[in-house]
Amino acid sequence: MKTVALLAGARPNYMKIFPIWREIHANRRERWIPLIIHTGQHYDPIMNDVFFADLGLPQPDHYLGIGSAPHGAQTGRTMIALEELFMRERPDWLVVVGDVNSTLAGALVAAKMRIPLAHVEAGLRSFDRSMPEEINRLVTDAVSDLLFTHSPEADENLLREGIPPEKIIRVGNVMIDSLVLLIEKAADSPILGKLGLLPGRYILVTLHRPSNVDDPGQLRLLMSALDQTARQMPVVMPLHPRTRRMLDRIEFRPATDDFFLIDALGYLDFLRLESAAALVVTDSGGVQEETTFLGVPCLTVRPNTERPITISRGTNELYEPAREPLEHAIRRALERPRFRPNIEGWDGRTAGRIMDVLDQIA
Ligand code: UD1
Ligand code: UDP
Repeated sequence: MKTVALLAGARPNYMKIFPIWREIHANRRERWIPLIIHTGQHYDPIMNDVFFADLGLPQPDHYLGIGSAPHGAQTGRTMIALEELFMRERPDWLVVVGDVNSTLAGALVAAKMRIPLAHVEAGLRSFDRSMPEEINRLVTDAVSDLLFTHSPEADENLLREGIPPEKIIRVGNVMIDSLVLLIEKAADSPILGKLGLLPGRYILVTLHRPSNVDDPGQLRLLMSALDQTARQMPVVMPLHPRTRRMLDRIEFRPATDDFFLIDALGYLDFLRLESAAALVVTDSGGVQEETTFLGVPCLTVRPNTERPITISRGTNELYEPAREPLEHAIRRALERPRFRPNIEGWDGRTAGRIMDVLDQIA
């Protein structure tokens, strides 16, 4: 038997480790023991517990309780706790996902302790080092033994950085596995009725990037444009705690009743809102991918994206405030036709392919 530790810390991580845990639990139990480690980077029930319940993910085997802190402290504390854990209980493999601080901490500890390390969602690059996630991606990829990618651009980025080709394996998009597994269940979510919304007749918004929400001027500009838009079509915005805190600080109150500022949602409710939206306005990485898979038009409030495939396939568009008012960009985006692009490996079977590789190597 081999142990594979699956590391999660923040909201988007749960949807990436779940399909791998499920694949092992359903099909590979005679060979692998999955160990779920939660760093506690995210800890509020709305950023944490609800996802374990919605996905049917068992409680973590180890919870490190790290919590919020500046980057160095958060990453450092996670490294200390993980190193202590791995000294007691050394896994045969560590799998890290995405690009959050927990990912970076896990990668550095595994690399130093010579624990074989796989990075799922490797090779994404925004080429913008002012984004903390870009640093996390670069370092994690540089020290990983296996780099699982989801798009041709990711492979090219890694090759350009000198990663040996035999370490790079295109397996597809594991987050889409979770979506495929749960989209039918999400259709039963009562969220539209609760908010009084009709399918195809509202705009869904998520914003949590520091570049959008930590600057009061930028946040005020975006929020008043969304408030304006809500006069024409309802706007629903589930709030990340970082965003909620900043909105309280600037004392923002919508002028329109049809601008719904609500708590961050669980996965099933969010998926229901996402799949039936007329348009999604976001700065999330995962949401750009999910809307592409669902064929829902997406406007990304960022100057760049590490997920260019969502743009080239025509479902996503970047929006920069300096160029035009957000209301105008939204009006144009609402006219875009809906269609579902077919992307190789975004098919719900990525976790199986990841485990096939680990089965062969381990
Ligand atoms: C982190 C990731 C980001 C990812 C996002 C997903 C890093 C550098 N950033 O950003 O890539 O897109 O998660 O959601 O890892 N907070 C709470 N409760 C919580 C968690 C956070 O109130 O459960 C508040 C705290 O005030 C905290 C702030 O949110 O200081 C930011 O949390 P943090 O985990 O540092 O970064 P995120 O913005 O969540
Ligand atoms: N999500 C959710 N509830 C919300 C907002 C997002 O369940 O209120 C899900 C979304 O469907 C996707 C993931 O969270 O699966 C994206 O996480 P987030 O935007 O926090 O992080 P990012 O992808 O930007 O790193």
